[in-house]
Amino acid sequence: MIDTAQAFGVDIGGSGIKAAPVDLTIGDFAEPRKKILTPEHSTPEAVGAVVKQLLDRFEVSDDVPVGVAFPAPVKPDRPLSFMANLDQAWVGTNVQDVLSDACGRPVSVVNDADAAGLAEVQYGAAKGQKGLVIATTLGTGIGTALIYNGVLIPNSELGHLILDGKDAEKYAASSVRDRKKLSYKKWAGRLTKYYRLLEHYFSPDFFVVGGGVSRMSEKFLPHIKIDTPIVAAKLRNQAGIVGAAYQADLQQKHLG
Ligand code: BGC
Repeated sequence: MIDTAQAFGVDIGGSGIKAAPVDLTIGDFAEPRKKILTPEHSTPEAVGAVVKQLLDRFEVSDDVPVGVAFPAPVKPDRPLSFMANLDQAWVGTNVQDVLSDACGRPVSVVNDADAAGLAEVQYGAAKGQKGLVIATTLGTGIGTALIYNGVLIPNSELGHLILDGKDAEKYAASSVRDRKKLSYKKWAGRLTKYYRLLEHYFSPDFFVVGGGVSRMSEKFLPHIKIDTPIVAAKLRNQAGIVGAAYQADLQQKHLG
């Protein structure tokens, strides 16, 4: 692994597993990322093997902190209670143990939206932002991160609020736009309802919109009609990897 990187980040998504060495001084990749498609049967064994393959491809040495952004609410000392978009065999496992065993080294695991939110606050669109920031990721599902005055309140799972009688991510995620072939404008109508719901319950000061689709933000952000400022993620789809690496580095320092 290139020596301008201080940590390594992996982002496990519903369609791809992406990884890169991260330069934490600038909050960016130190080398181009690599991506492997998420196995169709995305069991702990299959996904663990892909994460290990990515570590091997980058020749990540043992002293480098490794962080993994994971698409479910994760508590380091508890078995997983809920999984929306990967194989149900994950439920009941300790994700941190599963992935550490698969990699043959300790890795630290953080919810993927929380990782993205942390990266946006540390290096990106929400840097220096006071009050309540809600960072959202629009992809296979909807991920959310609540950050109050720079402090993360983890595992918020607001993509599963009920909207129009449905799990919100089944109504407004980017994958729904693809599947239903909605125009960006039509999709923005759905997003307006979703962000209004968040406004109603949380009175946030600032929204950040991440996920792969954030690179097309000019097509849908102007059509989201809400009162709170809403901007595209600055780190775009890199935020999960950068945030996971940042968090792993902090944890390694903290644990000595
Ligand atoms: C999961 C969240 C995750 C989000 C984005 C949701 O279905 O429950 O934990 O952050 O998808 O991947």
